[in-house]
Amino acid sequence: MRLVLLGPPGAGKGTQAHRLAERYDLSLIATGDIFRWNVQNDTELGREARAFMEAGELVPDDVVVRMVVEALENLRDGFILDGFPRTLVQAEALEAALQERDCPLSAALLFQLHDEVAVKRLAGRRTCPTCQRTYNIEFHTPRVDMLCDFDATPLVQRKDDEEHTVRHRFEVYQAAAEELHRFYAERGLVRIVDADGSEDEVVERAVNALDDLAERSKSRGR
Ligand code: AP5
Repeated sequence: MRLVLLGPPGAGKGTQAHRLAERYDLSLIATGDIFRWNVQNDTELGREARAFMEAGELVPDDVVVRMVVEALENLRDGFILDGFPRTLVQAEALEAALQERDCPLSAALLFQLHDEVAVKRLAGRRTCPTCQRTYNIEFHTPRVDMLCDFDATPLVQRKDDEEHTVRHRFEVYQAAAEELHRFYAERGLVRIVDADGSEDEVVERAVNALDDLAERSKSRGR
């Protein structure tokens, strides 16, 4: 299975990406996580991306595409891309790269959530800087106060989760969303997942959508 996850900031893409990757044994590439790791470690890529991220802007397409195409080289056949593509240019570049490898996408899961619910989730998000797992002071607290359940690293708040930056990230998302969703709809790949509900409810909806997809492709093969 080869998936891209689409949806506004705070829709729960990262949360669901980890759960789906574990469930279906898929590799996971999360472009935001890769950029944050590079910023944290002050690499050249991190220095290139930092200002864009802190302002809630997209990192330029050529930088992101290069990074993802390189990462695809080392991926197993099944994967999830979280946070990529974000623009039509990125979607076209991904399609070309996958065509070259003769391994087209299986689906684009579109997580839909009302902006105000997403803003609330982002205000309470805390992230582990080591493994990038996310928590929430209201909806998903760690077992020990402010420490990651997996590696006990102190959790941090992302700089781009301040409310005015979050609002701008929504505008940036909206500006590209329509043509990006149309691109995947025209290819029959979009599966809409209602992202309002508990993490368990949302993952169950995503799993249902993917099982339905697997069922259809099996019956087409019969
Ligand atoms: P990125 O890290 O990808 O940010 P994003 O797309 O804005 O998405 P978020 O990580 O904010 O939200 P999410 O949907 O993953 O939600 P999460 O699961 O964390 O990108 C950051 C930046 O990097 C970009 O702004 C850009 O600068 C750059 N970048 C990255 N990719 C790029 C690209 N392709 N092109 C150009 N630039 C790029 O959940 C949010 C919170 O809600 C958490 O606290 C979580 O615990 C909680 N939560 C999750 N699900 C539920 C639920 N069901 N109920 C209650 N709470 C929940």
